[in-house]
Amino acid sequence: MQSLEKNLIVALRYATAAVHESIEQLPIMLRIMSLSVTRADYCHYLLVLRELYTPLEAALYTAIDRDTQLRLGVRPKLPALLADLNEQAAMNTDEIFSVTTDVMHSTIVIKNINDLVGSLYVLEGATLGGRTIARHLRRVLNNELGSARFLDFHGEQTSAVWKQFAGALDELCAEQRLKPDAVIAGALTTFDDLYQQLARCN
Ligand code: HEM
Repeated sequence: MQSLEKNLIVALRYATAAVHESIEQLPIMLRIMSLSVTRADYCHYLLVLRELYTPLEAALYTAIDRDTQLRLGVRPKLPALLADLNEQAAMNTDEIFSVTTDVMHSTIVIKNINDLVGSLYVLEGATLGGRTIARHLRRVLNNELGSARFLDFHGEQTSAVWKQFAGALDELCAEQRLKPDAVIAGALTTFDDLYQQLARCN
């Protein structure tokens, strides 16, 4: 078996598999992956994620230093999400945009680089699933989906970006800047926090 230092991304996947599975089973996720999903469901989903991503990315991108950000190849997803919401609003200005999501309160605290990288793993990994969701929505909603900049954030670059992220994790571990167990704990905390918030917004 490989040590955590050699393949942190694999350890992260194993450690978070159960909570990922639980998130996929939440009503809001089952709705977005259903064959009867509507454009209103898609807009609601974006609005909910906007509430989650706004405080979380603000905390992460305030804490990260430029060198670590470049090495991990990460950047905020919120601008893409807001652009998708604007695009949807331009298509139709009905009550879809009056949804309130004020029940959400993140409890995430970024104490150190391990928490930071653990959280970034969750948001970066979500772009892998995002591609799957985008493909499904394209099939059902067709042109109504619009550009899906957020869900298909890295597009054709998805696997290259993920490889860079995984490689950087192992380098940072080898340089002893990261403690694998603490990164895993940070990822689990973030996943749990997102789970709680997503469970409340149905
Ligand atoms: C309907 C909801 C979701 C579906 C269907 C879904 C689906 C997927 C799929 C298919 C993958 C694997 C992609 C691949 O290996 O190429 C994946 C990975 C991942 N997803 Fe999701 N996902 C969902 C929601 C989420 C959410 C809400 C988050 C967190 C915000 C999340 C975080 C992750 C992470 C961190 C990975 C990477 C796992 C790894 O290390 O390989 N997912 N998802």
